Amino acid sequence: MCGIVGYLGNHSSKSILLDGLSELEYRGYDSAGIAVLHDGEFSYFKAVGKLENLIRKTAEFDTNGFSVGIGHTRWATHGKPTEINAHPHLGNSSYVVHNGIIENYQSLKKQLTAKGKNFLSQTDTEVIVHLFESHLEEGVAPVEAFRQTIHEIEGAYAVLLVTKSKPDTIFFAKNGSPMIVGTNESDEKFFGSSDAALIGNCSQVIYLEDSQLGYVTPTKIYIENESGESIAPTFAHLPESKLSAQKEGFRFFMEKEIYEQSTVISDTLLGRLGSDTIIFDEIEPNLLEGIREIKLCACGTSYHAALASSYLFERLGKIRTSVEIASELRYKEPLLTPDTLFIVISQSGETADTLETLKMAKRAGLRTLVICNVDNSSMVREADGAILTRAGIEKGVASTKAFATQMTVLWMFALYVAQTNKTMTPDTIREQIALLREVPSVVKVPQDLHERLRRLSKRYLHGHGFFFIGRDIFFPLALEGALKLKEISYLHAEGYPSGEMKHGPIALADPELFTIALMPSNMLYEKTKSNVEELSARDATICAISDTPFENADDLIQMVGHTHYMLDFFEIMVILQLLSMEIAIRLGNDVDMPRNLAKSVTVE
Ligand code: G6P
Repeated sequence: MCGIVGYLGNHSSKSILLDGLSELEYRGYDSAGIAVLHDGEFSYFKAVGKLENLIRKTAEFDTNGFSVGIGHTRWATHGKPTEINAHPHLGNSSYVVHNGIIENYQSLKKQLTAKGKNFLSQTDTEVIVHLFESHLEEGVAPVEAFRQTIHEIEGAYAVLLVTKSKPDTIFFAKNGSPMIVGTNESDEKFFGSSDAALIGNCSQVIYLEDSQLGYVTPTKIYIENESGESIAPTFAHLPESKLSAQKEGFRFFMEKEIYEQSTVISDTLLGRLGSDTIIFDEIEPNLLEGIREIKLCACGTSYHAALASSYLFERLGKIRTSVEIASELRYKEPLLTPDTLFIVISQSGETADTLETLKMAKRAGLRTLVICNVDNSSMVREADGAILTRAGIEKGVASTKAFATQMTVLWMFALYVAQTNKTMTPDTIREQIALLREVPSVVKVPQDLHERLRRLSKRYLHGHGFFFIGRDIFFPLALEGALKLKEISYLHAEGYPSGEMKHGPIALADPELFTIALMPSNMLYEKTKSNVEELSARDATICAISDTPFENADDLIQMVGHTHYMLDFFEIMVILQLLSMEIAIRLGNDVDMPRNLAKSVTVE
């Protein structure tokens, strides 16, 4: 996810901005840039790849005396990770940096292009600077021009803007993306999209609230709310440890990433939901022409997302769907026919086995699509089309938010197939879209639930194994729950279809066999219940996850319960992630860096 820094004062803007950006490197990025306004002139630098490239480019540059500057590390969501798409973005005499997504950028871009504005990049961000300058050209004063601009953009943003028309000022706005303003005894002003960029520079900071905007000058911090009323700044102290600042107060990155799922799913949905249509601007409209089958291929957690989505492709899109583990597909001499859309799913876009199957499918003449979290990764470059999952960098080796956004994209893509092939009516698609809009609130972690799982975890630290069981789409979710537990707790766990237990695994049943039963009432509840009863009759220990009380459960994790099984899917996903994490923490494991595992596996 992108990072923002800003500085106003008499020290070297360049050094302060670059130091701030390096503190934000942990968030992941694919390009970076800074713009500094000094003595009435702008200097700006952008570079693709690591921050060292930008540092090299700015080696000869420095300022002496007062200057204002803004900087950015970009994680591509709209437009490739190129120098042109890197921030800051230039108008005529102003620069902007932005985190988030401007949902109405296309309509704004159309209006501004009609007014003669020339767009250089493919980003949504560039509309902000042109909109601001078009107001200046209408004779509006800079503060009012900025206010109008912010009120016209929709979506999530943290914005900094500097302009020659007010050279001692940095404008800012925040809605849905974090932004912090800081100051010190020398009245310097600092901005950061996270604490880590500010630690060591500021004595006091203001954590901006949504819908606030304002500006800083050498003598002033002005903040106003949505209605234009001035707000008295509330100062707070910064945390002292940079590492804990990066973890934003959570014990592990994995925990932070579980809590981030609501935000990143919102990002994933942005701009992709119409009232009764799914919009994927990034793929060719004829992608599905002549396609009669979908083949999904992936590894690890991404494979579980593939397997789960296959239920949706067949149920909603009415299209024949098969799922393959990449390392298996490579050597099975598969029958690949050109009427098949070959979809690879990968968080990193670099997994060697998955990448190789993508190349195989291309050689066989198949149309290919990648669902990926990293733009410009090998798979994104290789595939005919790409849909980005917008989860931001995932640091925990055990995947959580990447899986959540993969599932969100795949559900949307199944609906996209349905709308293209007219297997669902606009009305039924509208109903599904309404459900998709509920997902960000479904995955928010209630404190009482987290506390309950923390307490419950102490009963599940031993035993001779775990079976995670479920039916239908809850079977792949059970596989994913078992994988999460294995990865970080090193306890033996397996995922099984509930109905399969009696065909062998039930032989293992005894009180030391823990069964985590996924039992939402919206999906084959009675069938699953019978399977769980068979296990409890043989004295297996049952931990049921359900919205319905179940008398044979030794433990019940009470779900909120929803109107639709897909919302249950997301709720149970969070429960399983937290349960595994709490068990692993109690066992004293390094949850973020489990033994023997790598985040990106680029060997066969
Ligand atoms: C590794 C990771 C897993 C991941 C798998 C596939 O094994 O540890 O968490 O699911 O690779 O990675 P990908 O980047 O292709 O999704």
